[in-house]
Amino acid sequence: MATRTNDWEQASAADGSTYWFSPGLSKYSWAVPEELKTDADRSREAGEWVWMEHPKEGYVPAKRSPGKGYQSMAGETLYLKKDMAKPAKLNWLNLTMSENDLVMLENVNPAVILFHIKQRYLTNQIYSYVGPILISCNPYKLLPLYTPSILNNYIKRDNRYLEPHVYAVANRAFRDLVSHSCSQSIVISGESGAGKTECTKQALQFLAEVAESAENIEQMILMANPVLEAFGNAKTIRNNNSSRFGKYLEVFFSHRNSIAGATTTNYLLEKSRVCFQAPKERNYHVFYQLVEGSTPEMKQRFRLGPVSSYNYLNQSGCDKVAGVPDDRLFKEELLPSMRELNFSQDEINSIFRIVSGILMLGNVTFENTGERKCQVKDAKSCSDAASLLEVSGKALNEVVTTTKLKVIGQAPITVNLSATEATSARDALAKFVYEKLFDWLVQKVNQVVAPKGGSKYSIGILDIFGFEIFDQNSYEQLCINFTNEKLQQFFNFHTFKQEEKCYKEEDITFEKVPYIDNQPVLDLIEQKPHGILPMVDEELIVPKGTDLTFINKLHDRYAQNPHYRAERKKRVEIFTVVHYAGDVTYDSKGFLEKDRDRLNDEAYGLLSKSTCLFLSKLFPQNDKARTRQAKKSTLGYRFTRQLTALMKTLHNTEPHYIRCIKPNPNKSPLEFYGKMSFDQLRNSGVFEAVKIRKAGYPFRYTHKEFFWRFAATMPEHRQKFSPTDMIDNCRVLISNFGFDTKTKQEIQVGRSKILYRAPQHRIMENKRNIAVERLVRVVQRVGRGYMARKLYRRMKAIVPVLEKAIKIRKVEPLQAALAQADGVGYEMKIIKDARYMLHVFEEEERVEKVLSSLIDEDPEETFGTFAEALATAKEIKYNSPTVERARKVFAEARKVRDAIDAEGEKALVSLEVNELRKVLEQANALKFPHRSPTINKIIDLIYKTSTDNFVKLQLKASLRKGDTDRIIATTIKLREISLERTKTLFDFNKFALLIDRNVWAGKKLLCFDRKSLAESMRRYTQSSIHHSLTRMKEKKDKQHAKILFKNILGYMGNPRYQAGQEVILARELLQAAVDSEEQRTEIYCQLMKQLTKNPDKTSMAKGWDLVMLCVSTFPPPSVIENHLEVFIRKNSPKKMMKRIILAMHHKMYDSKQSSLSVPDVNKMNDIVNGNIRNRSICSGYNTSIQQLDELKKLGEKKVSNAVELGANGTPRRPNPLSAPATRPKADAKVGMKRGSQMLNPEAVMAATEKKSQYLTKPEGHASKAPKTGGPSLPPNWRTAVDPESGDTYYYNAVTKATTWDMPTA
Ligand SMILES: Nc1ncnc2c1ncn2[C@@H]1O[C@H](COP(=O)(O)OP(=O)(O)O)[C@@H](O)[C@H]1O
Ligand SMILES: [Mg+2]
Repeated sequence: MATRTNDWEQASAADGSTYWFSPGLSKYSWAVPEELKTDADRSREAGEWVWMEHPKEGYVPAKRSPGKGYQSMAGETLYLKKDMAKPAKLNWLNLTMSENDLVMLENVNPAVILFHIKQRYLTNQIYSYVGPILISCNPYKLLPLYTPSILNNYIKRDNRYLEPHVYAVANRAFRDLVSHSCSQSIVISGESGAGKTECTKQALQFLAEVAESAENIEQMILMANPVLEAFGNAKTIRNNNSSRFGKYLEVFFSHRNSIAGATTTNYLLEKSRVCFQAPKERNYHVFYQLVEGSTPEMKQRFRLGPVSSYNYLNQSGCDKVAGVPDDRLFKEELLPSMRELNFSQDEINSIFRIVSGILMLGNVTFENTGERKCQVKDAKSCSDAASLLEVSGKALNEVVTTTKLKVIGQAPITVNLSATEATSARDALAKFVYEKLFDWLVQKVNQVVAPKGGSKYSIGILDIFGFEIFDQNSYEQLCINFTNEKLQQFFNFHTFKQEEKCYKEEDITFEKVPYIDNQPVLDLIEQKPHGILPMVDEELIVPKGTDLTFINKLHDRYAQNPHYRAERKKRVEIFTVVHYAGDVTYDSKGFLEKDRDRLNDEAYGLLSKSTCLFLSKLFPQNDKARTRQAKKSTLGYRFTRQLTALMKTLHNTEPHYIRCIKPNPNKSPLEFYGKMSFDQLRNSGVFEAVKIRKAGYPFRYTHKEFFWRFAATMPEHRQKFSPTDMIDNCRVLISNFGFDTKTKQEIQVGRSKILYRAPQHRIMENKRNIAVERLVRVVQRVGRGYMARKLYRRMKAIVPVLEKAIKIRKVEPLQAALAQADGVGYEMKIIKDARYMLHVFEEEERVEKVLSSLIDEDPEETFGTFAEALATAKEIKYNSPTVERARKVFAEARKVRDAIDAEGEKALVSLEVNELRKVLEQANALKFPHRSPTINKIIDLIYKTSTDNFVKLQLKASLRKGDTDRIIATTIKLREISLERTKTLFDFNKFALLIDRNVWAGKKLLCFDRKSLAESMRRYTQSSIHHSLTRMKEKKDKQHAKILFKNILGYMGNPRYQAGQEVILARELLQAAVDSEEQRTEIYCQLMKQLTKNPDKTSMAKGWDLVMLCVSTFPPPSVIENHLEVFIRKNSPKKMMKRIILAMHHKMYDSKQSSLSVPDVNKMNDIVNGNIRNRSICSGYNTSIQQLDELKKLGEKKVSNAVELGANGTPRRPNPLSAPATRPKADAKVGMKRGSQMLNPEAVMAATEKKSQYLTKPEGHASKAPKTGGPSLPPNWRTAVDPESGDTYYYNAVTKATTWDMPTA
């Protein structure tokens, strides 16, 4: 909508951004027009403003003050340091305009991007695009971004106007898979805790939703998460659920584009965590889960002790994750998932046997017994560990305390180990066992969910560690950063090289962008034989190779390499690699050992001889990899190979990018650390993307697309466009925009496309918006003219024909002329006139005939006909002597009837049934029944108006009078009637706020039988619910809803509480309802659920008591009141129904009861026992409606006769309505109740708020179907019924505003 200021209108472009438009000047502006700027604006903008680097914020706008550095808006002084680049000029537009795609901002630079990501983050817009990349900032709070309806929006359309979202990326991937017939990948990267794994899950959730599969395979894929997370995730200081391994999840699609299966590839599990955790961190979740959650039987079998008793768990001082119940996760997630994934009981037992074995191994400690000699301190743990791993205790002892020295050509010599060395040997054993176990789990999951049968395409989701720069960087960081270099190269390849390719194909001139090609760094790390990683491998096999010999060789070889720096001056062991994301200094200490990554032969042999089959299979006796050259089994070798395979896979896909940003180190919402986020943006290669896009032409349309898009901007040129030469057309359009294609700067005409940049895009789109609007108006005008011309010819022809016929003043000729006029097809005035004249001529003849025949008869008997003929004469302005005489005769007879009519008019105002009936009786008592318009109205009202319409009219009448009691009574009656008619609409199952049952079931993390869970959602269950039944916004409300359900369960006797407890449960429930409207809705749903198909009679009775308590304490929220009333009417015990409904109505309508408070215990007892009698709101009124219904029944037949009479005016005598046979009966019935007062006078309800809701209804009402269900109303809004149409409208109790459409908050 446009808001007008002076000559400028502020308007919204199609993409949602704001611009100013001056219709008068035909000018538009993206910036605030000069004319609209205030003095404050101007003085603020004066001076030299730039984006200055800031130690905390990354970048801030700052104003240059000569000699004094730069002043930030916050008043800080910032100085330009030597190593800083020249600050970028600030473009004020950048501060006000936002784009979903930040690349589209003008003068975009890193500072601008950072600025906007921050602004957006602080308003909960956690997603932004930067060119092809989705930036996702961890919100650290639940945002309503992942609801089924939002997901559905993204499924429905690939709309670039939808907000940036993971779903949009997943959707694009899926659509591209289908339309390009090409595998896709989604590359997610970012620091630990940035939200990668959440993104992966959301993308997967989306794919599962958009591409369902028959076999529920997507559920199985989701199910694998709890298992892999239990074993592969741990609490770190950065993330409570940090994945300690890289993961590539490839989801395969069948030919019908449904999910066929998935495989997971894991990279680099951080196995050192098994033996060591830093302070405030934990070991892998599974250890705690097993120890806390296993059954006593398992505890015994696996010799489990408390967490504190294990060395591998007790060193960091952290054994809990806030809010994560390890024991429950074990029982309710891990075990069920394993079973669901077809783990056999044997496998499960073996897995936990091994996990406990590892823990026990950690308790084996050593004491030195001499020079380089030690023994196991605690023999029990050693033998326990051995028996859990099912290996010989003696052999285990030997493996950890000694080693074998092999000299070629001689028998191996046994060498003792020191306590420290023995500890390392022990840890190596534990780490390797755990790693193998983890690999096995991944394989197992793959077996279960792998696609069966052919599947051509896949979407791979890569959830992998981002670039790491720590204070101390070792071999692992080198591998991780190497991975990121690879991914960056892939990214460059795809964006930059693809861009370049596109420009070449289009044969346009473009500036070559000097981008950071990281091939030299990749070569430095991986190239054989002298890359860093191959050199470590090499050093392992040369005699006497050590970390030191390695680093010296490295320093020598790369002395001249610009991407390498030996840091000999600091320490000889360290070296620096110049990565694309920055310089990282690595410490080579431990490189060789980490790379060897090999269990010695004795330890390996020990495990492969375990009698635990599961374990021995993890260490096969003749493992080919072990017997091959040592080089080929190094970590570096394996990792490089894995990575190469991954890159190969990725190269065969069309990639999509998500970069996750961790905006603060505190895991807290709405905190944005500028510098920290900026570093991550840089590390993730985002700015490279900006550079590439900025240098190139981000906007591109084919010639044809471009032409059709912008042709509207030159309507006057329409005829002159060539139908074939699109290039030429495009050139015409472009020069009309004022752009010069020759300079090849702003916009370029390629071979198949037009390519241009953000500023041109904005200008053209804007002109297009304006032009299209104009064009629409023109088209309308042209269309109307054409129609008119055609009509005009016909109309002209008929005029003389009609004029002639009218002049004759005879019925027949005029009839003939009119028949001819029918063909015109348009109601001209003269046709209307002619029709009226025809009527006049006909009536003149008839009136004359009727009156002259009646004039000597008894006017009482011919009254109706008389009256009608005289009225007609008056209407057609016909006068004749007959008419004059007839008028006089008639006047006499009229006096009696006028008296009755006067009564009738009064009754029509009050609409009291007995008054109406009395008037009707008097009218009937006349010789010939009196059928004045008034009486006809009464007859219509009683006999031809449906009861509900009658009640609506009554409601209106009461509103006019301000009769509150009657207003309420009629409102309730109306509800009752309309609910009776529409009750199927208000079936509990159809309540719109209820979550879809399958979605609901899907919200349960682990579930054996989702189908039956879904089915149980809306009927009685004994168990608690895993999620609220209704959609709720806040997590805490959902949690609360689950808890409240337990109150209901308890009140209804499950489990049995001590006597008296149930009242406490009920009070707590009622209090929650009083506090929150959302919970009111939820509670009523929960109650309806528990009162559906409940086989237990006592439980049912208690449930209805609870309903009684609820309706007596708080009114049902308007969204659910109809559903609830229908449910109660249908299902409640007969003897309670009236009581419940009445109590509910009092809560809804009686302003005295409008305050909400939880009744005390005595009152609760009274309510439940029926000791509180609500006075009847409508009994008197209902009696009158009963009378009406009886009257209807009696009168139906008689009325139809009377109606016939009114229609043709032929005298009929005597009217059967006055026949004595029926009259006494009706009289008796009416008489019985006569004089009984409708309402209890002492309980007249105050006409406060509740009354005013009916007084003004909104304007411009086009009858709409009543809204049912739907989202709940914002505060202060109420629903009301329009007495005229019966439709629902909304009114605001505070502002008194009214509207037909459901208001939104
Ligand atoms: N979109 C999101 N909405 C709400 N919370 C999120 C979101 N993304 C991440 N989080 C929070 O951040 C934590 C870490 O996210 P996670 O995906 O595990 O990080 P990463 O895998 O990058 O280490 C999550 O456990 C969650 O609490
Ligand atoms: Mg993760």
